Amino acid sequence: MQAVILVGGEGTRLRPLTSTVPKPVVPLVDRPFISFMLEWLREHGIDDVIMSCGFLATSVRNVLGDGSGVGVKLRFVEEPDPRGTAGALKFAEPMLDERFLMLNGDVLTDIDLTAQIAQHERTGAKATLALVPVADPTAYGLVHLAGDSSVKDFVEKPSSDQIDTNLISAGAYVLEREVLELVPPDRNVSIEREVWPLLIGNGLYGYASESYWLDIGTPARYLQGTFDIIEGNVRTAVQERLGDGYLAVADSAGIDGRVIPPAVIERDVKIAPDAHVGSMVVLGQGVTIGAGSTVERAVVWGGTHIGEGCTLRDCIVAAGCRIGNNTQILGGAVLGEGVTVGSENMIAHGARIFPGVTLSDGAILF
Ligand code: GDD
Ligand code: MG
Repeated sequence: MQAVILVGGEGTRLRPLTSTVPKPVVPLVDRPFISFMLEWLREHGIDDVIMSCGFLATSVRNVLGDGSGVGVKLRFVEEPDPRGTAGALKFAEPMLDERFLMLNGDVLTDIDLTAQIAQHERTGAKATLALVPVADPTAYGLVHLAGDSSVKDFVEKPSSDQIDTNLISAGAYVLEREVLELVPPDRNVSIEREVWPLLIGNGLYGYASESYWLDIGTPARYLQGTFDIIEGNVRTAVQERLGDGYLAVADSAGIDGRVIPPAVIERDVKIAPDAHVGSMVVLGQGVTIGAGSTVERAVVWGGTHIGEGCTLRDCIVAAGCRIGNNTQILGGAVLGEGVTVGSENMIAHGARIFPGVTLSDGAILF
């Protein structure tokens, strides 16, 4: 079966991580984010994938190639201008089969697509939306389901007073090609706002799932997704690497300090004596952690150097950064690629430092 993955959004809420790397190929634990989606699709027998790209399509293509690495056939389509979720699908129409999956390209999930497809066939639906419960539906598409699994109502980005259920659209749809007849060509069209309403009472169904599901579109959710993968809360191929000890340490890593699982320590990482790493940490290739530093609930991308006596907690530090001695990075802070922070700084409260910025010694206490 075929799938179309929408990856045309700019990923603005994940800046500064997405300032230099397109969202689909932002590294998550040990692979480009989208590989998790491709592996999940592959497990459900989907091996023909069309990536609907906008922003930075070439770099997405450069990282993923033809998909043979994950055992799928990958093709790329690039809209001339952003067409929206339905417009992008319409643009890919000549490549589409009679029945296919459509996926938002920013969800980490192990929803049972095989069961969703089976329900779609059983009900004779034109479109079947995967649904998951969330605590706060305001950022999503809210769905009211009837007893026969047909959708009674769909409200995109509901206001608080519209919320009387917790089921939202998970961004994974089984579609019949005829749905494209409802999409006008050559303009920006939202599938959520312009197509689902037309299908209510006319073939729109929901498949309610209890599976793990997360939209990784913000730094907080990126960290949550990382932790859920290394804790094994979501079924992924990373589990094999981690094993029963929830720990993956590359052979070439030099560890003189202490590592507390779950953790992933990649090649050529150096952890100095008296340093504490973990739990819930991912250190990318070639990261160095200085003596006496503590890193917990944090992600550090490859080639970053952390000085001595530092504390990194609840933060994301992108590739190639340099952090001076006795600096603290805490509280949801995110450092973009190639940031230099001098010694004796404190960066917290969700601060986002953009790529290439240099902060001198003792410059910031935030
Ligand atoms: N090709 C292309 N062109 N892709 C696009 C475009 C476009 O113009 N606009 C958005 N996308 C892609 C994004 O990259 C993302 O993968 C997906 O479409 C959904 O867009 P988001 O911007 O992430 O939407 P959202 O998260 O606010 O809401 C959507 O997802 C929720 C689940 O996470 C909606 O589908 C909601 O109904 C749903 O609940
Ligand atoms: Mg999203």
